[in-house]
Amino acid sequence: MGDAAPGMAVPGGAAPGTVIAETPQQRDRAKTIFEKGAPGRRAFVCPELDVPPVDPETLLPARHRRAEPPRLPECSEPEIVRHYVGISKRNFDLDSGFYPLGSCTMKHNPRLHERAAALAGHARLHPLQDLPRAQGALELMWRLQGALAEIAGLPYVSLQPSAGSHGELAGVLLTRAYHESRGETRVKVLTPDTAHGTNPATVTMAGLQVVKLATDAHGGIDLDDLRSKADTDVACLMLTNPNTLGVFDQNIETIAQVVHGVGATLYYDGANLNAVMGLSRPGDMGFDIVHYNLHKSFTQPHGGGGPGSGPIAVSERIAPFLPVPFVVRRDGANDAPNAATRARASGGGGEEQSAGAGANGAGSAQSPADGAAARPAQPMFDLDYGGGAQGDGPGSQTIGRLRGFHGNYGCCVRAYAYICSLGADGLRDASETAVLNANYLLARLREAEVAEYLPLAYGELCMHEFVLSGGPMKRELGLKTLDLAKRLLDHGFHPPTVYFPLLVEEALMVEPTETETRETLDAFAEAIAQILREAAADGPEVARGAPYTTPVRRLDEVAAAKRAVIRQALP
Ligand SMILES: Cc1ncc(COP(=O)(O)O)c(C=O)c1O
Repeated sequence: MGDAAPGMAVPGGAAPGTVIAETPQQRDRAKTIFEKGAPGRRAFVCPELDVPPVDPETLLPARHRRAEPPRLPECSEPEIVRHYVGISKRNFDLDSGFYPLGSCTMKHNPRLHERAAALAGHARLHPLQDLPRAQGALELMWRLQGALAEIAGLPYVSLQPSAGSHGELAGVLLTRAYHESRGETRVKVLTPDTAHGTNPATVTMAGLQVVKLATDAHGGIDLDDLRSKADTDVACLMLTNPNTLGVFDQNIETIAQVVHGVGATLYYDGANLNAVMGLSRPGDMGFDIVHYNLHKSFTQPHGGGGPGSGPIAVSERIAPFLPVPFVVRRDGANDAPNAATRARASGGGGEEQSAGAGANGAGSAQSPADGAAARPAQPMFDLDYGGGAQGDGPGSQTIGRLRGFHGNYGCCVRAYAYICSLGADGLRDASETAVLNANYLLARLREAEVAEYLPLAYGELCMHEFVLSGGPMKRELGLKTLDLAKRLLDHGFHPPTVYFPLLVEEALMVEPTETETRETLDAFAEAIAQILREAAADGPEVARGAPYTTPVRRLDEVAAAKRAVIRQALP
């Protein structure tokens, strides 16, 4: 049921202010699959048995059998298809419209990658398959390790973590292991006040202590604050660069000096790596540990559309603690297990180029630096559990395994397909276009006179995203950032990220990505301008009541978070 706002055209042509009654069709849409169908109805009928029947009781011990059959929906195939297609249409997704969710990098997922990931050799490969029969998959992972190493400018990679936040946890555990190996117990982790919420959450989860760093007038780390807090209790600094304000911290070399100067490590939250791929590398900036959000920078359906993947790359000094197993290439007599995760950060070395990103095939046995002879025709890809490492080699003092099996392999396939299809130049182009698109949109908003109500929070230009402050809009038009965001849905756009970073008043964080057209960016700028004009002319009520055109109206988000109803009794 919905109450239309005054002056607002509502779907179905009801007059503004009318209470719209729920129709049988709407009620039907709210039914769960258990409320559909009829007893005995089936979507699939098994063929007659053409093998001798076996009593299931002889196959499965009684303790593993259910006492009663499960209550499953009994529906025809068309009912099932309509049910799930119907649900899918009630959501907003990237394939339906512009989704400029800041910090989340909702860019188009090329269908080519889906085809690659769906190939039976990938999609139907069992994670416990014998390694000799999974050589292709292992080689793909090994090549991806090499390409990611080259992109970050750090030599060793683990594909295990399942998300950016999981990569962060890996990074903090690695940092702790590194300090402990030196006989040091360091308890503090520095995080800027612009940090993504997962940074402090990870630190707390790892049992360390969060110490906040202030932001300077340019949107970067306040160096005085950093210097005053950097001491020998500090385990590491976690930093995103560009940060969540869309600002590249120009002081990164000084920051690295200060942090390394007190013996701490530098962790790169790679969620914004998509702004700098092929342009600058965290390893060159002085970072020791990096996580990648494969699902952002390297495209995957995510944010409810699919699983994530958050591999990490580390420097030589962190490598002994790497999670195991990782993929190596063993070159027969020249067995070089540890070299296989290694890519010369400089791009020099072996003959074989991996992944179009300029990496050198991740340290094949041909690499002169490995001192190895020519490799055999059939390299053998294998999993290294750190046991083969000598002395302080990769994984020799591992923090252990971070998850079952080998990471989200489907994400590896898509990311590898993305890197190969773009190549080194294409990756750089993607980042440059992401930055260009964000600055274009910013300029269009200024032209549309939006900046008066929604000024840029820091600086004049931005990297791949920007943060506007809705403070003036709230004071002058009575419109909160949330109202603007909800009204954007009626214009067919997914709202940008709101109220983050926390230090910006009424923040609106926009990340257009490189895959959007100029027309889309123009239309989005015009939609924001129109919402502001509407509020200036008619008052804030229309936007305050938005959205009107979505399957559900404005939700009570506090109640939804505090009293979540996530179970429904069976009919
Ligand atoms: C800056 C930043 N860091 C870390 C993360 C966490 O990544 P994930 O969602 O993959 O756990 C995000 C996610 O949005 C992010 O934007």
